[in-house]
Amino acid sequence: PVIRREDYEPYPWIVPETELDFALGIGSTRVAARLKIKRNPGTESTSPELRLNGDGLTTEMVMVDGARFGDWSMDEGDLVVNLPGESHTVEIVTQIDPSANTALMGLFASNGMLCTQCEAEGFRRITFFPDRPDVLSTYRVKMSGSKDRFPILLCNGNKVGEGEGDGGTHWAEWHDPWPKPSYLFALVAGDLVANSAPFTTRSGRVVECNVWVREEDLARTDHALQSLHRSMKWDEDVFGREYDLDLYNIVAVSDFNMGAMENKGLNVFNTKYVLADPDTATDADFDAVEGVIAHEYFHNWSGNRITCRDWFQLSLKEGFTVLRDQLFSQDVQGEAVKRIEDVRILRAAQFPEDAGPLAHPIRPDSYREISNFYTATVYNKGAEVIRMMRTLANFGGQVDNFRKGTDLYFDRHDGEAATCEDFITAIEDGTGLELAQFRRWYRQAGTPRIAVRQTLGDDGLDVTFRQTVPDTPGQRNKGAMHIPLRVAVHCRETGALGAEQLIELRQDEQTITLPLSGPFPVLSINRGFTAPVIIERELDSADLVFLAAKDDDPFARYEALQDLAVRHLVAAASQQLDQAGRAEGKRLVCDAFRSILTDPELDHSMRGELMMLPSETYLFEAMAGSDPAGIRKAEPLEIHKEREQLKTVIGVTLKRELEGLYAQVADVPYDDPAGRGARKVKTQIAALFAASDPERAAIMASRQFDQADNMTDRQGALMVLCGLKHPARDERLQAFYDRYQGNALVIDKWFTLQALSLHPDVLSHVKALAEHPDFTMKNPNRVRSLYMAFAGNAHAFHAQDGSGYRMIADVILALDPINPQTAARFVSPLGRWRRIESVKAGLMKAELERIAGTEGLSRDTFEQVSRSLDG
Ligand code: ARG
Ligand code: ZN
Repeated sequence: PVIRREDYEPYPWIVPETELDFALGIGSTRVAARLKIKRNPGTESTSPELRLNGDGLTTEMVMVDGARFGDWSMDEGDLVVNLPGESHTVEIVTQIDPSANTALMGLFASNGMLCTQCEAEGFRRITFFPDRPDVLSTYRVKMSGSKDRFPILLCNGNKVGEGEGDGGTHWAEWHDPWPKPSYLFALVAGDLVANSAPFTTRSGRVVECNVWVREEDLARTDHALQSLHRSMKWDEDVFGREYDLDLYNIVAVSDFNMGAMENKGLNVFNTKYVLADPDTATDADFDAVEGVIAHEYFHNWSGNRITCRDWFQLSLKEGFTVLRDQLFSQDVQGEAVKRIEDVRILRAAQFPEDAGPLAHPIRPDSYREISNFYTATVYNKGAEVIRMMRTLANFGGQVDNFRKGTDLYFDRHDGEAATCEDFITAIEDGTGLELAQFRRWYRQAGTPRIAVRQTLGDDGLDVTFRQTVPDTPGQRNKGAMHIPLRVAVHCRETGALGAEQLIELRQDEQTITLPLSGPFPVLSINRGFTAPVIIERELDSADLVFLAAKDDDPFARYEALQDLAVRHLVAAASQQLDQAGRAEGKRLVCDAFRSILTDPELDHSMRGELMMLPSETYLFEAMAGSDPAGIRKAEPLEIHKEREQLKTVIGVTLKRELEGLYAQVADVPYDDPAGRGARKVKTQIAALFAASDPERAAIMASRQFDQADNMTDRQGALMVLCGLKHPARDERLQAFYDRYQGNALVIDKWFTLQALSLHPDVLSHVKALAEHPDFTMKNPNRVRSLYMAFAGNAHAFHAQDGSGYRMIADVILALDPINPQTAARFVSPLGRWRRIESVKAGLMKAELERIAGTEGLSRDTFEQVSRSLDG
């Protein structure tokens, strides 16, 4: 069935108290639930029906008000009890098998321990309950189990009792004073050790912070713990939010569908976002740990204290929390580079989604399976939308104005299950902004495109903006958006940089006159990526070169460079360029690159960022999307070929500059303040040489690999080697494997590097790796490390004969019965068929049809495949 946003109705009952009693066992766990229920005074319903959600549960016994009760039935997994009267105590006993739970939703076993994942609808796989986010309850949980197997017993809130039981068992009782929806419930039982350090909040509360892991991982938990402390301090300083329990537990598990989960007082994390040390984690891994730790911590206010009324409001907590973690990381890691990275992610993951069959507004209107809506749109575009409100509120000196809005929101809705509309209203009331038209960002899917024309007028630069929001599945003829843009007008002649101003577009077409700073105006637009839009404009290459070299906004500078490369690559891949045009395009990119390589003002982190050519996904979108009639299709293999060729030309043309730079960065020590930037630049250079001079690159990368004292250098070198047909490739791959055998997260990297490589035989490598003893379909990290990497490797995935598509379709079919949530994530790469050249489109569509025609598909995969075929 399709669930619709407009059909929301409050639950007819409230559940003030929930008591759970778990008798834990890996193969069998008994759950006794006791719910205090009352009629919800906010609803009129007088129906005696009490519907409790269940999924795959069998009912052993139902008791009402202390006596066995017979008036109940089952409906599609739900338990329906007929209860006349105002208030009751309902007791239910169920039995579940965590070891058989390969979907990893509900209570499951991982590495001998038991843990839970309840968001969005996993709690119903544990016990019968109104499993919806607007039913808040206070939980008291008793758990007992083997002392040997489960020496540590954790749950939400505070431990209020513990003791010994019969036959080598022990028990613990936990109480969470904060009412919460069932999706925030968590329980963990296992043989774990903690890295602990207290944090004192601004009002003097001493919070015991623990990062729980298996003993052998303990040495890799310091960064996570420190990141938690930094997050706690930052949320006090920047959003005025303080932690509200005496205990904060984080547990790392190795089998997990997603990154992490913000359960109240007991976050459960994928090990990938907890464990880090220089020998096993890259600089990017360290940043990801810090970002996810912060994200889950920030949810305590944006998510837990204020939760969502229904799952259509998911972006209320996710968009806002992503923005909060991005702002935190900007403060810790540096604003310019972090902003560029976040935009790169948005363009690589969200823009394609917004342009394809799975496009949906940040607040969707309908779904079949909510797990399919934990998307880049809800998360990352959601964050961009709130970031625009922040820009509108704060621009021009009123730095704290947005904070007035968020303070009001936290204050007004604390303890509630709220809506996106509540959030917007609080921001309006707190800041004084008027956001009526802005609300369209919540309703309308699709990335707005803004065509920009400029003419030199008498009073300045007359700039005409024409905005369109493309049609998306179920939505056409959309209204104009309210779009803020930070702009400035520089002068190419004098080099004068114009003052920045904020303009607000509200109409389909409008002309704004901007002040000049000199005779040769160059417009710098969407600075800092103010709005998640696509700017289309005819700009002189000379202007782009000027912006790339001189703009005072680091993002605009990056953008100008990207534009130069995108223009050239899209034109070349669509065969629009003659010999001279090709040469000219390459020359321009090389000139811009030269200034990046040699600019003494740039720090290496930013240099490394600027050296990254636009991703193939982004180019794919640019190629298919640049034709308003939708006739032009993307040709991924052409894009790939041109992009590799451009790397070759850069490597040849700038050999001397690259060598010079390499000498500067090659031996910067790991702990040097410039170390990180140096490592980034170093690997980029080796990657360019891999295209221009493979022999030289093999020597360079082998040396880097052999001398590395950290994972960033080692992985970077191995990445370069993996793409080469050179004996050093297999030697170093083997050395890497031998060194890290048994370390799951590092072995994931070993799989990924081979699946992502530029090597012509990737497909056969991946087929062989699928037979490797370390490969398993049961572990999501391992599956993604091999097959997500492959699906993102354009030259292999889009192989002319369709073998790449077939491989991913086979993965979906094999994985669906094991772990539907993860299987469904593999559908979107195939779903891009409509924007692709017709031979490949036909092959992709045929694979989707093959999946659709398979009996017994999960709801998750079925929904994604049918949307991909229909949209
Ligand atoms: N709330 C979690 C987070 O963002 C993610 C939960 C994902 N759930 C899912 N069914 N995919 O931090
Ligand atoms: Zn989240």
